Amino acid sequence: MRTQYYTAVSLDGYIADENHSLDWLFQFGGGDESSYPEFIRQVGALAMGSTTYEWILKNYIHLDPARPKPWLYEQPTWVFTSRSLNTVPGADIRFARGLVEPVHAVMREVAGEKNVWIVGGGGLAAQFYDCGLLDEIILTVVPVILSGGAPLFTSKITNPPLRVIEVKPHSSGLTKVKLQVPKRAT
Ligand SMILES: NC(=O)c1ccc[n+]([C@@H]2O[C@H](COP(=O)([O-])OP(=O)(O)OC[C@H]3O[C@@H](n4cnc5c(N)ncnc54)[C@H](OP(=O)(O)O)[C@@H]3O)[C@@H](O)[C@H]2O)c1
Repeated sequence: MRTQYYTAVSLDGYIADENHSLDWLFQFGGGDESSYPEFIRQVGALAMGSTTYEWILKNYIHLDPARPKPWLYEQPTWVFTSRSLNTVPGADIRFARGLVEPVHAVMREVAGEKNVWIVGGGGLAAQFYDCGLLDEIILTVVPVILSGGAPLFTSKITNPPLRVIEVKPHSSGLTKVKLQVPKRAT
């Protein structure tokens, strides 16, 4: 069981542009379609920040307000927020706030043998790293430069560095890069 931050990122390290748009990613067809099915099969629990959650609500679930779509994931999803947000009918969405450690302990238990997916954003992923709870970062590197936006990660990891486990270019132009996260020096 591993805790993985799996996301698409621009060449200059952003996961959304300044307007929280992902059009730069969707021009490639939505992401790394070759590795996602295998990845999501191994996921037992997800965590995301409220901006990501509200992005999904606005741009996917309620894109046509007259015909809301079902939630994207079968696995239980933890949404970190200090606010009261609406849930999605029929979805296993659990709201959390504050320290990530106790939430991660529950997520691990729920995930069982499977992995925990930190969906984003970069601040939330860094909170898991800061507590020594992040094992891997799996990137779909998109050959675009955004020059600003939502950062990939908000903590420093320099020494020891991340270890590259896999680099796999796809004919679409996207490149999968899988990295092992060093344990945080205490
Ligand atoms: N490229 C990709 O594949 C990809 C993947 C994921 C996300 N995205 C996009 O990237 C952007 C990320 O946005 P973001 O940087 O704002 O990050 P985010 O993690 O989605 O949202 C951050 C917000 O979550 C809440 N939060 C985070 N940690 C918390 C904690 N411990 N306790 C309570 N609340 C907490 C706070 O808001 P409140 O307390 O005010 O609610 C915080 O401002 C979004 O546009 C998203 O759609 C892209």
